[in-house]
Amino acid sequence: MCGIVGYVGPKSVIDILTNGLSKLEYRGYDSAGVAVNSNGKIKIYKAEGKLQNLKDLLETHRSEITNTTAGIGHIRWATHGAPTTINAHPHSCNCGKLVLVHNGIVENYKELREELKGCGCIFKTETDTEVVAHLIAHEYGKLNDLPKAVRAAAKRLKGAYALCVMHQDDPNMIVGTRKNAPLIVAMGQGENYLASDSPAIIEYTKRVIYLDDDQFAVLTPTSVLITDIDGKQVAKKEEILPWEPVAMSKMGYKHFMLKEIHEQPDVIRNVLSGKLPDITKPIVLDEVKLTKEQIKNLKRIEIIACGTSLHAALVAKYILEAFTNIPVDVEPSSEYIYRKTVTDANTLVIGISQSGETSDTITAIRQAKAVGSHVLIITNRPDSIMAREADSLIPVNAGIEVSVAATKSFNAQLIALYLFSMYVAEIKGSFDSSKIEQLKHEMMMLPQKIETVLSHEESIIKCARAFASYKNFIYIARGINYPTALEGALKLKEISYINATGYPAGELKHGPIAMLDETMPVLAILMPGSIVYEKILSNAEEAKARNARMIALTSAEDPHLEDVFEYILKVPAVDEYLSPVIASVPLQLLAYYIAEFLGKDVDQPRNLAKSVTVE
Ligand code: F6R
Repeated sequence: MCGIVGYVGPKSVIDILTNGLSKLEYRGYDSAGVAVNSNGKIKIYKAEGKLQNLKDLLETHRSEITNTTAGIGHIRWATHGAPTTINAHPHSCNCGKLVLVHNGIVENYKELREELKGCGCIFKTETDTEVVAHLIAHEYGKLNDLPKAVRAAAKRLKGAYALCVMHQDDPNMIVGTRKNAPLIVAMGQGENYLASDSPAIIEYTKRVIYLDDDQFAVLTPTSVLITDIDGKQVAKKEEILPWEPVAMSKMGYKHFMLKEIHEQPDVIRNVLSGKLPDITKPIVLDEVKLTKEQIKNLKRIEIIACGTSLHAALVAKYILEAFTNIPVDVEPSSEYIYRKTVTDANTLVIGISQSGETSDTITAIRQAKAVGSHVLIITNRPDSIMAREADSLIPVNAGIEVSVAATKSFNAQLIALYLFSMYVAEIKGSFDSSKIEQLKHEMMMLPQKIETVLSHEESIIKCARAFASYKNFIYIARGINYPTALEGALKLKEISYINATGYPAGELKHGPIAMLDETMPVLAILMPGSIVYEKILSNAEEAKARNARMIALTSAEDPHLEDVFEYILKVPAVDEYLSPVIASVPLQLLAYYIAEFLGKDVDQPRNLAKSVTVE
């Protein structure tokens, strides 16, 4: 969750670190800090709150930060200890010569702290990270060698960590290691970098090495040495990052979220490109390594994911079951990992993740792999841990998603899931082929239809203005759009902090209806197709009868809607199977404009982080 940057080289260390941290800031943070080796001395600067506070602090000290050789920087999402300046990273040992930054949670930090106190270590904070700084310094005292000290300390750590460490007496060196938390090495000309994610360094170089768990990187300006935990050199492949630095620009939009909502037509075109050659030809998914025989023998599919990706998984349950006749279970990764993993070689396990780095989903797929299931990953980050550990992959090509609230990645995941469902159906012959052709044709039309939704933002803005002052919201739908209701409610909660809940419309009268009155607006998603349209309409009438203010999201040309709904958000007609893609867009915009009217920090909502790399 925390962001890490390390640099060793001739450029201004402060500028490289703060620029790198600002590229990670979008993930949502509460304090920041850097340590630099300047004129042969370690200097630490930290600030609470946004990164700008640290930048301002550094400006006031700029004249004293000269002759820099190396530095490490960190933006923190608090886990152990409040988001205060003292708890911010870097942390140091007693003498202040050894400093480090850390992402993750060290589980045995309490025992280690007691032990280190007995050795004379004085603790200034309650954080697990400070314990690691003292532990490495303690080893350094014995070994007088930074890489060896980091390796010795790592043998004592339990939990998850990415670490970036430096010592005053090794002014041209930084050392990094990782376990269940991301860390990459990036190579420049006469300079090298460590980072928790590629946006931090892509402006400088695209040449990277992905460290595996328990690997150690020793960086100087002109060398990179990767070893295992015993110091044995490991040969690693250099890879080239697939991103362009321009992905991190707002391109004239006020927020990244708005830009990313507007990118969705192109994102869908990208996902379809090469995979859907023609409506009469089979779907092409080269990175799916399951044989036809394996696909025909699948008895069950399990999908594991978190947050918005979990909502995409819930939509996928409807389509996979309808198209392939294979039973599908969907579960949040954080629940999956604490149950017995009852799966086998005839079960396909699908992990969905925008970042590909979500800790719970990584653990879940590892558990499933360990008992013999084929793991298919659907991710926006082909350079992520999940993508690298997958048996099969469907990259969703949505480009870097900067806004913390996921938007374009959701629809990109949905398209990947539609493609996969049709791919399996075509191999099994389990779904009417003319219906598949019709759906393929409609999928190709989706970008245009989303463009139509985006060109009618005024009605959504009007609705957002009318409802921005409400404290609660209910979203209802049935069938394939029940997950869309959950996703719409999640978007509103995340960026406006309004208490919004999605319900299957039929569940309203089993409890939630008790809350309805004029203070509780109800948004109903009514996409024509199956019988559920009429059912949702009658559930909406029940809500209206309790004085709730009513909003419809629909493609229906139904004059009766005007009797029930005060606001009608219209979207183009689309096959019901594909309707979550179209219906999610006005919900993203509604959440966006409500948050905007409320003056919230849309791209970096409080308490949230873009990539949840801790349990
Ligand atoms: C919602 C959001 C989160 C993520 C969740 C999973 O807008 O961003 O709910 O969807 O943390 O993250 P990934 O998809 O990266 O595994």
